[in-house]
Amino acid sequence: KTILVLHGPNLNMLGRREPHIYGATTLAEINEALEQRGKAAGVEVICIQSNHEGVLVDAVQTHGWTASGIIINPGALTHYGLSLRDALAMVSAPIIEVHLSNVYQREAFRHTSVVAPIARGQITGLGWRGYLLALEWLLAEL
Ligand code: DQA
Repeated sequence: KTILVLHGPNLNMLGRREPHIYGATTLAEINEALEQRGKAAGVEVICIQSNHEGVLVDAVQTHGWTASGIIINPGALTHYGLSLRDALAMVSAPIIEVHLSNVYQREAFRHTSVVAPIARGQITGLGWRGYLLALEWLLAEL
């Protein structure tokens, strides 16, 4: 079984990017934690980050059909990435939307998610542990 983890634009800069908002943990550390947790449960975790929406669409088309679940932090694409949303809508695996920061406490443009209507659930504001909580839910549901 595989679980697909997608990270959108600028998340490759975690650790250096506005750490007071997004925390000091790097993307490599987050991915490592997810891969280790998956391994312990006998599940392969595939982690992909891109600054380009089309690359994320490609990743959904390539891995989304066979994945048992998708964890996605779409970054700013959350708020306007309609081709990414359409790609996610094609696949039947449950999708969990994760945000490091609490988007509802921030600028108004972050309050709208085009992904949320097709996501099974959303975790926002719990920092890097939000990804692990999403993975725990998927592992329990599988
Ligand atoms: C984010 C919130 C988005 O509004 C922002 O554009 C990001 C990161 C988060 O994880 O809190 O890039 O998805």
